[in-house]
Amino acid sequence: MTDCRMCGGGLTEFYDFGRQPLSDAFLKPDQLEGEFFFRLAVGVCDQCTMCQLMEEVPRDKMFNEDYPYFSSGSSVMRKHFELTATNFLETELTGDDPFILDIGSNDGIMLKTIADAGVRHLGVEPSRSVAEVASAKGVRVRNEFFEESSAIDIVREDGQADVVFSANTICHIPYLDSVFRGLDALLKPNGIFVFEDPYLGDIVDRTSFDQIYDEHYYFFTARSVRAMARSFGFDLVDVERFPVHGGEVRYTVARQGARTPSAAVAEMIAEEDAKGLSTLETLRGFGDKVSKIRTDLVALLEKLRAEGKTVVAYGATAKSATVANFCDLGPELVSFVTDTTPAKQNRLTPGSHIPVRTPEAFTDSPPDYALLFAWNHAEEIMAKEKAFREAGGKWILYVPEVHIV
Ligand code: SAM
Ligand code: TMP
Ligand code: ZN
Repeated sequence: MTDCRMCGGGLTEFYDFGRQPLSDAFLKPDQLEGEFFFRLAVGVCDQCTMCQLMEEVPRDKMFNEDYPYFSSGSSVMRKHFELTATNFLETELTGDDPFILDIGSNDGIMLKTIADAGVRHLGVEPSRSVAEVASAKGVRVRNEFFEESSAIDIVREDGQADVVFSANTICHIPYLDSVFRGLDALLKPNGIFVFEDPYLGDIVDRTSFDQIYDEHYYFFTARSVRAMARSFGFDLVDVERFPVHGGEVRYTVARQGARTPSAAVAEMIAEEDAKGLSTLETLRGFGDKVSKIRTDLVALLEKLRAEGKTVVAYGATAKSATVANFCDLGPELVSFVTDTTPAKQNRLTPGSHIPVRTPEAFTDSPPDYALLFAWNHAEEIMAKEKAFREAGGKWILYVPEVHIV
């Protein structure tokens, strides 16, 4: 047994996905030698209930000048963050000279709206590839990792913040103790820390095991987030569910005693407890379903290959690294993956070495079946690819179980 990264309690492993590559390290054909691998396994803490990876990947290997995930590639996500920003502008940012921070600001998807409104803001983003795109949009960015020392520098230069926001990033940070000490320095007395990440409740309900990969270190619940916040002198004061990225929760954290927790917090924790969300029994049951998905998906793809059908994948997501490597998919089962991101095109998927091609490669010669790796964007993608379906093409989904639509 190892120790919980959050509270030092005992960590029990409940699923092992085996040897996995860096999920966002798309390779040039001459980079196949010396690819980095680690053991992807997930466990749960018997004290604070936090789910977390058993092994940590060094942060610079994942988030650097080559990081290829550009948040603004999805119109649904652009809308989601525009609404988020507008909402902050109308509520928390109405005082005298307000200041908002975004941890993991990426290409400026949220802060662009804040910058356009002329409100003081700062993005903290270690990956230069995406930080430069945000800067070009007029967003102010520090190209570094957020942690205690950067928070102290920011307070010195810009003063304290009304809101620290973070989407799909806090779950990427193993060293949350340093982050919380930084927040303590950075937030005004009544300031709030608002973050949203994939919700363990949805991962278990939908068996969306591909949310588990190198970058996703923690899998939060309202209970584990409240325990974490309290251990650093904060409290969980609100929770809200969102359908984006397969099901997320937005957590609002404030200094202990500064704000009264909403009824939604107690309700969500009661719901989690009632279904035993973080118990070993539930999590091992989740693992059994994951194993069945692998068996079913491999059997389906082998059957289609035997029948001479063409199969390509849609969306070279970070999530798909887990699926492809865990199911041992390669170009012989999935001929290529189509993706709109130029930084991923004409490269090979990490570990599984499936070529990534442009959207035109898909539309010019549509396959019989498209394996939807970007299932979290299903609505947006299926609307865009109506012609594929109308011409007889079929989608393969593997969440919550393997099925064809
Ligand atoms: N917030 C955007 C969104 O929701 O679409 C981007 C999410 S992206 C999955 C995660 C981002 O967090 C990456 O741009 C990565 O470079 C950044 N990141 C990773 N560790 C970080 C840290 N310690 N501080 C700030 N950003 C970090
Ligand atoms: P995500 O699931 O982590 O957001 O990644 C989505 C990936 O899918 C990203 O590489 C962009 C790609 N994508 C497309 O290729 N076409 C699309 O229509 C959308 C929404 C995403
Ligand atoms: Zn713990």
